[in-house]
Amino acid sequence: MTRVGIIGAGKIGGSLLVRLAESDSFELGASDVHQEYLAPYADQYGIWTTSSNRELAERSDLLIMAVKPWDVGTVVDEISPSVTGTEKAVTSVAAGVPISAIEKRLPEGTPVLRVMPNVCASVGLGSAVVTSNEPGREMLPTVMEIFRSVGDVMELPERLFDAATALHGSGPAYVALFADALIQAGVREGIPRDVAKRLVVGTIGGTSVLLKERSAHQVRDEVMTPGGTTAAAFVAMEKAGFVGAIYDGIAAAAEQARELGG
Ligand SMILES: NC(=O)c1ccc[n+]([C@@H]2O[C@H](COP(=O)([O-])OP(=O)(O)OC[C@H]3O[C@@H](n4cnc5c(N)ncnc54)[C@H](OP(=O)(O)O)[C@@H]3O)[C@@H](O)[C@H]2O)c1
Repeated sequence: MTRVGIIGAGKIGGSLLVRLAESDSFELGASDVHQEYLAPYADQYGIWTTSSNRELAERSDLLIMAVKPWDVGTVVDEISPSVTGTEKAVTSVAAGVPISAIEKRLPEGTPVLRVMPNVCASVGLGSAVVTSNEPGREMLPTVMEIFRSVGDVMELPERLFDAATALHGSGPAYVALFADALIQAGVREGIPRDVAKRLVVGTIGGTSVLLKERSAHQVRDEVMTPGGTTAAAFVAMEKAGFVGAIYDGIAAAAEQARELGG
């Protein structure tokens, strides 16, 4: 059984730990600077935990670094002495940090993989893209299996990772912003807040199922009767710069991801 060590038991690391523990396909370990974050995983799922990243690295075949981008360098330096040659693989989920920045701090030939997940992983409906350096190619199926336990996974060339980070990594926050604006708009029109929330959440969930079967344009055209309410809303929203704001937002997020990578 592959021994998987997750460094950072936060939003992404914690989601992986819960789902992987339930799947029972891997031997799991976890580390975090906060012992109190690790306790529930040890107590409820029997996961082996430690506050030492190096100790975790010694006991793992595959390490997944789920720490913030600015903490990746420190973590890699801590685990590097325990990552001997091609025996262990290192995966990062950090926004912006390229494989080359991780590789250069590890022994030559270490398999390094990069994943960009999103927070929907916490409900098993995540989206993730994955890539690797040449030595890491052999580990791709295992890493894809791991992230499949929390949602959908695809391979993507690393040159597109900053764009993907902007699109789906940050994506749940944009959808939440849109949802909040819709709820507020409903309240402004006099709909009770709890009713508005239920209508908006149901609409987003239902539309996401429709979008799996049809193009976005098809869904739009099915709703938009000529001369009707939706057409009136589209004109008003587009005049206010709705679509342009989305293009600008994604471009700004992609640029920020590039800056994180230095
Ligand atoms: N959250 C998202 O929606 C999302 C989406 C896509 C990708 N990502 C990427 O996923 C990574 C993790 O994000 P997250 O939101 O899961 O972060 P998070 O919730 O802050 O979890 C990270 C955990 O690691 C701990 N940590 C910090 N330094 C450490 C070290 N040296 N050794 C061990 N543990 C350490 C943190 O403690 P402290 O809180 O004290 O720092 C925290 O408990 C980030 O690089 C992010 O770019 C996140």
